[in-house]
Amino acid sequence: MQVQTLTELPATRSDLDARIREIGEEIFNRSSESQTGLFDKGYWSGKIMDWSMTNPAFKIEMFRFVDVLPSLNTSEQVVEHIRQYFLRPGLELSPLIRTAMGMATLGSLAGKLAASTIRKNVLSMASTFITGQNSSTAKATLEKLWNSGFCFTVDILGEAAVAESEALDYQRRYLELVNGLSQDVKSWKAQALLEEHPLTPVPRANISVKCSSLYSQIDNMAFRQSVDAIKERLRPILVAAKEKGAFVNLDMEQNDTREILLRVAEEIFLEPELRDYPHFGVVIQAYLKGAISDLDRVISFSSLRGSPITVRLVKGAYWDFEVIQSLQRNWEIPVFTNKAATDANYELCAKKLLDSYPKILAAFGSHNIRSLSFAMAYAESKKIPKTAFEVQMLYGMADAFKKAVTVMGYRVREYAPVGEMLPGMAYLVRRLLENTSNEGFLRAKFVSKADSAVLLQDPATKSQAESPLVKAMAEFGDNNDHKESETVFKNEPYIDFSLDDNRKKLEGALKKLRSALPIEVSAIVNGQKAGGLSFKDSSNPSKQSEIVARYALSTEETAAEAIKASIAAMKTWARRPATERIAIIQKAGELLRARKAELSALVVLEVGKNYREADADVAEAIDFCFYYAEECGKLSKPRSMASTAGEQNRYEYAPRGPAVVIAPWNFPLAILCGMTVGP
Ligand code: 2OP
Repeated sequence: MQVQTLTELPATRSDLDARIREIGEEIFNRSSESQTGLFDKGYWSGKIMDWSMTNPAFKIEMFRFVDVLPSLNTSEQVVEHIRQYFLRPGLELSPLIRTAMGMATLGSLAGKLAASTIRKNVLSMASTFITGQNSSTAKATLEKLWNSGFCFTVDILGEAAVAESEALDYQRRYLELVNGLSQDVKSWKAQALLEEHPLTPVPRANISVKCSSLYSQIDNMAFRQSVDAIKERLRPILVAAKEKGAFVNLDMEQNDTREILLRVAEEIFLEPELRDYPHFGVVIQAYLKGAISDLDRVISFSSLRGSPITVRLVKGAYWDFEVIQSLQRNWEIPVFTNKAATDANYELCAKKLLDSYPKILAAFGSHNIRSLSFAMAYAESKKIPKTAFEVQMLYGMADAFKKAVTVMGYRVREYAPVGEMLPGMAYLVRRLLENTSNEGFLRAKFVSKADSAVLLQDPATKSQAESPLVKAMAEFGDNNDHKESETVFKNEPYIDFSLDDNRKKLEGALKKLRSALPIEVSAIVNGQKAGGLSFKDSSNPSKQSEIVARYALSTEETAAEAIKASIAAMKTWARRPATERIAIIQKAGELLRARKAELSALVVLEVGKNYREADADVAEAIDFCFYYAEECGKLSKPRSMASTAGEQNRYEYAPRGPAVVIAPWNFPLAILCGMTVGP
């Protein structure tokens, strides 16, 4: 993946930087007139957030608790969860937090009261970021926003639907929202700043859709089916938007759905019925190392349409998830692990976006004033009018900045979620993570009160050291026991099938294997094919007509010969030094690794496993080779034992003899391999 550098910026770099600082200072000055700070936190949430910022272990327990709370039905359950999550050894709690969590009263009658107070407090914390639990309460908030000079994009809380009934319900609600909101906004007062655009008037109704709520079976393994199913659910929503004159944005989500979502956008926005409508948008997440190439892709498909697409440029809201998941799976981390690198990439993307105006329209989603000032200054240098792009911020956050930016003549759109607590939990936790992050701009400005010169510094000139959080994440949950032993074993990473190349590699292997079927599987005795045996067909369980292999049916005599040959071979094998035996097993692991795709393809066809399960079977076989080889290294060292005068005692392991391995069908490679290399 190529990461470009900022050296591409215009020769007037220092002029641009001076202007960025000027704009930034103006935003800061204007926002200091406003009374609001980081966000309008109540006393309780304020205390909880502050303690979370300085105490990472508490933060994790707190977020786990917030996450589980909506599904707890009784106050006993709430009390029990508080006890389990927070009253554990090693978790530091200030007296203030103990009181805030009602801990003194947990065992008593008052514990019930504490549970209901906590529930109320968490709800009020959530309501900071959520416009309303249903569309009518949300509608009042939206109109109020509009009247005070801000536009919005409404998002229905909920993502990653788990059932089709749920996904269909989301589709219905999005349709209702497009139709209802387009109607409602008609009677609202005119707001020139919010509606004027040099190319085309800006729709008042603006909706952000999370595609993962529209289809419950999204899976990279079924890439084509996933893209088609999402398009089918999305199409009526986009058609309604076009009819009613509403704007629809497709949100980006976790990186493992990124390929699917980009493909959906690419295909659906080019459909004849939709390609001339100028009010559709997508998101580019600048924290992704591949953001620039995604942006290139959007620019190129947008230019094939008859009208522009809007790109909302954001940093990205799933950073913690992406880092932890990649660490867990031993995958390359797809996001920058340094905040300044993300900020620098944001500026690169912003520049590219503005360079593509008016083929592409831009929305800059950020609370970072340096990032926004960069976009504003660069647009100015290109003579792109202020009304040609917009600034987006989240509902409930950075209100002081929103006001300042509006006064300076920019359109500010608030990302305004509507919906219930339970489906809104993931959204809430993302906001809490952002607000308690040590690296966030809002914290630096409002909590640490950093100097504006530092806040407005060019991110490309800042240290690119990896965030200490990555190390902390890697070590979290690690019980450290194995650190004292000599173990270096690491699990073979599973294949990341969200990447096109990886899917294609396995599909290629399947095709190649299919062209060579059926495979002839002979009985091998002492390195030679046993002759005179009859053969039987082995068919693909998912497609019975496909004969995958023809395997030899050994006779009793063949088996007896095999055992005899093994006993003979055993004598030399057992005498080989452990280091040699270890090297042979490790070599076997390397050979398996080199032929992973081929072996997975064989497991898919012969046993009927899906790609992911087949890959896991092969990975486990590789693990067995390296794990047992390493353990053999430890076991093969002779150990001394307590000795008395006149005798010396030691023990060591010696090979015992050949073994027969009869593996079950369900792990066709891993179990056979593990039981063979283990002894
Ligand atoms: C999120 O859902 C704002 O789309 C962003 O976290």
